[in-house]
Order: sequence, then structure tokens, then C-alpha cells
Amino acid sequence: MTQCTCVVGLQWGDEAKGKIVDLLAEEHDIVVRFNGGANAGHTVVADGRVHKLSLIPTGILRSEVTSVIANGVVIYPPRFLEEVAQLEASGIIVGQRLLVSDRAHVIFPYHLEEEKAGAGCAAEVIGTTGRGVGPCYQDKVGRISAIRVAELLDADHLRRRLEEIVPRKNRLLQALGAGTSMFCAEELACEYAAYGERMRSYVADTVRYLHQALQQGRRILFEAAQGTLLDVDHGTYPFVTSSHSSAAGLWSGSGVPATRVGRIVGVVKAYSTRVGAGPFPTELDDAIGEKIRQTGREYGTVTGRPRRCGWFDAVAVRYAAAVSGATELAVMLLDVLSELEQVAIGVAYELDGERIDYMPATSVQLARCRPVLEWLPGWKRDLGSVRRPEDLPGAARRYLDRLSQLVGLPVRLVSVGPDRRQTIRW
Ligand code: GDP
Ligand code: IMO
Ligand code: MG
Repeated sequence: MTQCTCVVGLQWGDEAKGKIVDLLAEEHDIVVRFNGGANAGHTVVADGRVHKLSLIPTGILRSEVTSVIANGVVIYPPRFLEEVAQLEASGIIVGQRLLVSDRAHVIFPYHLEEEKAGAGCAAEVIGTTGRGVGPCYQDKVGRISAIRVAELLDADHLRRRLEEIVPRKNRLLQALGAGTSMFCAEELACEYAAYGERMRSYVADTVRYLHQALQQGRRILFEAAQGTLLDVDHGTYPFVTSSHSSAAGLWSGSGVPATRVGRIVGVVKAYSTRVGAGPFPTELDDAIGEKIRQTGREYGTVTGRPRRCGWFDAVAVRYAAAVSGATELAVMLLDVLSELEQVAIGVAYELDGERIDYMPATSVQLARCRPVLEWLPGWKRDLGSVRRPEDLPGAARRYLDRLSQLVGLPVRLVSVGPDRRQTIRW
């Protein structure tokens, strides 16, 4: 049994990581979010109730688990406080079970404006979620205009910082044609100092906390947001998010070295989806794609946008599994394919007349790739009540075996419905 496990998406997000984190959280003491922000939407269905987590780790649903929002996350305080309030209203006691890193960066309203300001903005070109995540990470890397959670706890310091930053942001927004969205440093300083006070009891040196926990032998589960193909370095750049959403983000995003993580669960859908712009070789722009969208209820948790749907892309997942160091696969939403006569897997690409079995480095090349599909018979049986591998129809097992073979990893878990119980383990 390894002390640390990471759950990571191997596609373009929404692989149902939330369900897996919730299942594995039972065997862990701490659940850590290490990247992204409220651009994530993780859903758990338990005891007939649907829980949607955005910024707060999915571990919060388990009363014996401590949840940590680590340094790599970007936090929009009103959203954070709203999510805590929503959880408490639904009977989940957050209290001292939630820690927020003093080093995490803070999203301000000007970040939200920056994301959507002017022609050619990220919201328009990349189809971002509009949560200010990208502009906040830009400021983090740029250093001059960034504010960390710890700075919210010192009102005088915060006011001085915002007096420097806000005029620069106003000039930027004006230049981008968003001149009606001007901000007042004094007002923002008051508002954010008040958020700081409301967040104070959660704020901690989470790096120290996690290292102490490691020494005490406590078990830690890392919950990646987004997916490896949206990683700012390893994804389909520039149609990616602004953080390291592969397992690689765990080390910098939490301060826990990857050498401590023995198990990396690569979560995939039994098909593919993507929200927003960017190349998607196995995309189905037809009745089958629409059928998958309807059956899988493929509409974004955060923005409500219809997700683009397509066949499982074994080339892309093999690449993502390698980059994230996945040690096993969890195949999700297998039930969604149950009504299809036949199912296909993208096993290679055709790029400019040549067959290749790897992901090309650029999105321009990937957009020119045509999928080479392998067809397998469908199983035409409802899987929702299957709980043991041996009860799966033969065709469904053959499909899973082929995915496993193409990706080169064992399938350890299969999900056949949104509920916690609709899970098959090997
Ligand atoms: P995440 O962002 O990776 O946590 O995934 P999301 O929560 O955004 O999207 C996954 C969706 O699929 C959620 O609505 C889940 O409730 C749902 N889901 C999870 N597992 C299954 C499954 O095996 N079958 C079906 N039909 N739905 C599932
Ligand atoms: P979870 O954790 C799916 C996508 C957006 C957009 C791109 C950049 O629920 O799997 P951003 O707002 O991050 O700058 O948008 O990334 N995206 C996601 N797609 N699931 C997510 O999170 C996503 N988070 C961001 O749609 O294409
Ligand atoms: Mg999601």
C-alpha cells in the first residue's frame, strides 16, 4: 500500500476524477488539490445526492478526511466562501477539516475582466471558463502584480499592494477596450481584507503541514483538476489551461516530491470529450456524437456548454499516461456506450498521408491528423447494475482489454454509472 496516490485525468478534463477521488478518499487521511481553480467542476453522486465541487477538494465529502487547497491553486475568495457555505448548508461540516495554502494566489475581479476583454481574448480564442484563472497565473509568473493568500491577512499591506497594482490594471483594461470596467484600489482593499478575515481560520503553511503528515505516516491523495491534455506544457498548447494539470503539477503545486507518490491513477472516459476550442482528432460531429452527448449528459459543470464528443483516442491517452506516469487506468462512463451497435477506438493518426502512432508536438499538426479507427462490436446491454468484472458482457470486456493493451496499463476500475456504488474493481 503506497502512502501517496494521485488521481489525474488523461484526456481534456471531466473524466470523472471526482468520483474516483471520492472512492479512494475512504482509504486516505488527506486530499490535496494542487492546480487550477474554480475552472474545475468535480461531481460526486452519493446516497442519491449530487455534490458539485469546484475549488474545494472532493475529500471534503468524507468526514474523517482533511482537505488541502495547496499552493499551486488560484483562489477567487467570494467563490471559495460561497462553496464553503453551500457545503455547510447541505449538512457537510467544513470547520477545521479544510486548509488553504498561504502561498496560493488570489483572483481579483480585474482578472475576470482581463480574460474576456477585447477581440482575440482567451475567452474567445481558447474558450476558457471565464473564472480569471489564466490572468491570475499570468500575474503569478510575472510576479509584479500577484497577490498571495497570506497577503489578504494584513490589511495595510494589502492596501499598499493594490494601490500599486490597480492603476496598472485599469490602464491595461482601457487599452483592451474594457474601459467601463475600472477598479478602485481602496474599495478592493476593503473587500479583500474582509475576505481575508473570513478565510483566516483556514489559512496555513500547507507545505509544512503535508511534510509533517508524511512523517506521521498519514496517507495523502492528490486530486488533479483538468486533464493531462490541458497541461500548459504537455497539453494541446495553446488550447490548454494555465496550470500543470498533469501529475507533474503535484510536486510544484503542493511541495510534496513526486518521489513520494507510488500510485498514479489515470482516469479516462470510455470515449473522449472536450470543452472549448482546440484539435480533437476523434471528434464525432454526427448523430453518434450527439447520442453520446445526450446519454452521457455531456454539458459542462462550470459553464453549461455542450461538450464536444468523440471516440476514445488511444494515441492521445498513451501519450498522457506516459507524461503523467500513470500506473493504472480507471475507465469511466462505460455505460454511455451501451446502446451502440459498434464502438470505435482511435489507434493511430494519419498526418499528411503518413500513418503515425504518436501525438505530434503542435496543435497545428494535430488539427491535420485524421484518426485511424478500429471497430469493435457493441454490447447492447445496460451495465448500470454490473458490479463484478465477470458479469460484464464479453464485448464490453473485449473493449476494455483492447484499451488496456493500446495504452499499456492495467484497468483497475470501471465505472458504469454516476453513483459511488456503480463501480467495478479488479
Ligand atoms: P471531473 O471534472 O473529472 O470530476 O468530471 P465531471 O464531474 O465534470 O464530469 C463527469 C460526469 O460524469 C459527472 O456528471 C458524473 O456524475 C458523471 N459520471 C461519473 N461516472 C459516471 C459513469 O460511470 N457513468 C455515467 N453515466 N456518468 C458518470
Ligand atoms: P475539470 O477539473 C474540462 C478547459 C476550458 C478551456 C481551457 C482553458 O472539471 O476536469 P481555463 O478557464 O482553464 O483557462 O480554460 O480548459 N477547462 C476544462 N475542461 N474540465 C475542466 O476541469 C476544465 N478546466 C478548464 O474549457 O478549453
Ligand atoms: Mg469537471
